[in-house]
Amino acid sequence: MSVTVRVPAKVNVQLAVGGARPDGFHDLANVFLAVGLYDEVTVSPADELRITCDGPDAGQVPLDRTNLAARAAQKLAERHGLAPDVHIHIAKDIPVAGGMAGGSADGAGALLACDALWGTGASRAELLDICAELGSDVPFSLLGGAALGTGRGEKLRPLEVGGGFHWVFAVADGGLSTPAVYGEFDRLNEGVEVPEPVASQPLLDALAKGDPAALAATLSNDLQAAALSLRPSLADTLAAGTAAGALAGLVSGSGPTTAFLTVDAASAAKVAEALGASGTCRMARVASGPARGACRLG
Ligand code: C5P
Repeated sequence: MSVTVRVPAKVNVQLAVGGARPDGFHDLANVFLAVGLYDEVTVSPADELRITCDGPDAGQVPLDRTNLAARAAQKLAERHGLAPDVHIHIAKDIPVAGGMAGGSADGAGALLACDALWGTGASRAELLDICAELGSDVPFSLLGGAALGTGRGEKLRPLEVGGGFHWVFAVADGGLSTPAVYGEFDRLNEGVEVPEPVASQPLLDALAKGDPAALAATLSNDLQAAALSLRPSLADTLAAGTAAGALAGLVSGSGPTTAFLTVDAASAAKVAEALGASGTCRMARVASGPARGACRLG
């Protein structure tokens, strides 16, 4: 008996970041959009908790108990008085350490899969609660679609989306550490009064209308300057994507993946081809959103 769950990646169409809080986290106005790049998490009974992973970047995925998928299984088991003896296999297609919530996706996927395997019958609210304990982006991986995340990003309000958006993701060589990017944000803003993060109404309207030109005009990421400061070559990728005909480009979350919004699927294919040939990224992938959140396959 095994259970497989498919979980999407995300892009932040707005990431407004406030000043550092006493707990080290930052208050956010974080507009998430799930996109159709997926990891698949399969769980099956085993003698003890273990993780395996395959896919092009599998070598970069930690297979110990720091992996969010392992932590998800442990947390659910603990709450229900079970032993977390499960083999978790991750078929990885989301860029690793790329700012697309790949690790969070695996956490949400393992949680949903273990819930089904063990017949835990946890409510949606309990699952979301465990997700929030695992990490700021994990609840959204479970939810999918589009949502506004406040607090450290874990308090979600689902958003209306009036149509599909076509994206190209330029995957960089190597990852960026999320804490390092937030640390650089703090360094760049030292002595500056950082305003309260607020969701942009024109951006929410553009999402609700399904209007790519209007969304392109309102995309923003307050972590972009920090990601560019740590990885200046991302400026070349951003320039290559816009020169190739994207409506707009931005760093995805804490990076280093860059995301390009295009007018339609044909334009996305062209931009991906040009980016792939530009020598400014490791590869370019097309994906559209909104995509469905974590769901069981079969
Ligand atoms: O919540 P998560 O474990 O994914 O966060 C990883 C790191 O990113 C945190 O340790 C923190 O350095 C930074 N972070 C932050 N503010 C947030 C979310 C994450 O400073 N709202």
